[in-house]
Amino acid sequence: MIDEKKSIQKLVNYQTKDVPYQIKLDANEGKNFLFPNGFDFSRVEFHRYPDDQATLLRSRLSKYLSVPSEMIVEGNGSSELIELLIKTYVNPDDVVLSIEPTFSMYRIYSEIYSARYIGIPSQFDFSIDLDQVITAIHKFNPKIVFLCSPNNPTGYQMKRAEITRIVESTQGLVVVDEAYIEFANRQYSVLQDIMKYSNLVILRTFSKAFGLASIRLGYLVGPEMIVKSISKVKSPYHLNALTQAMGSEALLRIDTVEKWVSSVIAEREKMINSLNELGIQTFPASGNFIWIQTRSDLGNRLEEKGILIRSYQNALQGYYRITIGTEAENLMLIQAIKEIFHV
Ligand SMILES: Cc1ncc(COP(=O)(O)O)c(C=O)c1O
Repeated sequence: MIDEKKSIQKLVNYQTKDVPYQIKLDANEGKNFLFPNGFDFSRVEFHRYPDDQATLLRSRLSKYLSVPSEMIVEGNGSSELIELLIKTYVNPDDVVLSIEPTFSMYRIYSEIYSARYIGIPSQFDFSIDLDQVITAIHKFNPKIVFLCSPNNPTGYQMKRAEITRIVESTQGLVVVDEAYIEFANRQYSVLQDIMKYSNLVILRTFSKAFGLASIRLGYLVGPEMIVKSISKVKSPYHLNALTQAMGSEALLRIDTVEKWVSSVIAEREKMINSLNELGIQTFPASGNFIWIQTRSDLGNRLEEKGILIRSYQNALQGYYRITIGTEAENLMLIQAIKEIFHV
């Protein structure tokens, strides 16, 4: 038998729930609003390898973001870009630092590549103590700092000036994961600062605001030097032609995306009120999801009723992340919680 390499021997598969359900509010996916009638792939040359540079997609992203295409690199979901960043920059035993709880893939890819992952705990209310983070940066000298803002799962959004203070406090690379920025305060996006720093990159995805999780499409915006280094490391033709075609078309439908985002934000505020009326503690939300604390049996009880939300374990037992669904789904969720709580 061939031994797995040491760094992955304790690794477990990424947790996805494979149970029958009626309503799925556990993966922050949203709804199929952008291509409800499917997509015409007839112009895709199926026998050819895809465009290795994803030229059309990157040029449309360039227009959308007002950033030169040379500063953009595409990925199979932003997940692939997290891996590519670690693969490109992190040597074994280098430190990768983030603020916990947060998106688990920063830790998982760090471990796979034998880096030392350090998770600085957030405050009791899941806000961030900036001084503590900067002290840790000075102490550990990380090669990469991952900042997830808005943060998955807590919903906490860092201010722009807080992020740039961190960028200025480290020799390492700061990766700001803006997977949920479209649902948040966009004034806090550091896209505006991207020209100023040589150690700042941003990750975004089509999986959330664009409702296209199935096509696996994300992108990185950052200094040309970094884009060039990542391009050396990525697999040839890594982004398939179908995803490139659909992503390029999606960027011509930004008005539809914006309408969807506004409706999610409106539903999110309604949901927060309804949950609070039921005595459930909610935290300030800035993604397409809400972070709550309540009875530790809520996840299982809802699952019995065919409603999936994301449950957390150990120190975070009793905390849940609920994706904002459609109005009808949200009403069904609230009704189900009322039944469970007997109110
Ligand atoms: C903060 C954050 N970053 C990245 C991702 C991964 O997104 P993608 O589907 O683009 O790989 C997720 C998915 O849930 C996420 O929550």
